[in-house]
Amino acid sequence: MNIIFFGAPGAGKGTQAEIVSQKLNIPTISTGAIIRAAIKAGTDMGKSAQSYIEKGNLVPDEVVIGIIKDRLGEDDCRKGFILDGFPRTIPQAEALDRMGIKIDVVLELFVPDDEIVTRMSGRRVCPKCGATYHTKFNPSTAGENCDKCGDVLSIRKDDAPEVVKSRLVVYHNETEPLKEYYGNKGLVRTVVGQEKLEDTTKLTLEALGI
Ligand code: AP5
Repeated sequence: MNIIFFGAPGAGKGTQAEIVSQKLNIPTISTGAIIRAAIKAGTDMGKSAQSYIEKGNLVPDEVVIGIIKDRLGEDDCRKGFILDGFPRTIPQAEALDRMGIKIDVVLELFVPDDEIVTRMSGRRVCPKCGATYHTKFNPSTAGENCDKCGDVLSIRKDDAPEVVKSRLVVYHNETEPLKEYYGNKGLVRTVVGQEKLEDTTKLTLEALGI
């Protein structure tokens, strides 16, 4: 199954995508995670993307389209994949179509903007293995350390409240029109994000029919 996870920043795409990825044994491809890894490694792409990410703006289309084209060409994508955070603009979706990639489902996770701001303020991430937690809704059993690899958890720079607000504006202006783009193809299934993570998972698996 080729799945797109779609929704506002902080709607829970990464959290649910990870669960579905394990269940279906297919990779999750997160453009955000790929770009953050490039920034950490200090590559040319990372250096040029850093200022966009930190201000909550989108990285230019040609950069992310190149990332996706390379990644989807890898062997582990042959039996299916989850795209988390791509496409984010109409030109990105059109580029995906031109690559000849068939999408089976676009899973929208809907969470209202005011809830998003609360969620982002409690997000903690592991800089080493990429695991995501929430201080209240999904805490690490190891406190301020990652319960998967033990590293000290950190706060993403783009989770600062003023950056979250800009990311939401960018989402509504540039990414939300994709709902109509894929809606016209009959591919969109919407799940309303629940306060309990496992309730959202149940609805997500039902919507995907797995
Ligand atoms: P990216 O990393 O993709 O960020 P995002 O889409 O903004 O999404 P997030 O990772 O912030 O949130 P999420 O929906 O995955 O939520 P999560 O599961 O973590 O992109 C970052 C940046 O990279 C962009 O701003 C842009 O600059 C650039 N970029 C990336 N892709 C690009 C592209 N295609 N084009 C151009 N630029 C691109 O959950 C959030 C929190 O809520 C967590 O703490 C979690 O534990 C908690 N939570 C999850 N589910 C629940 C629940 N049900 N109840 C309560 N809490 C919950």
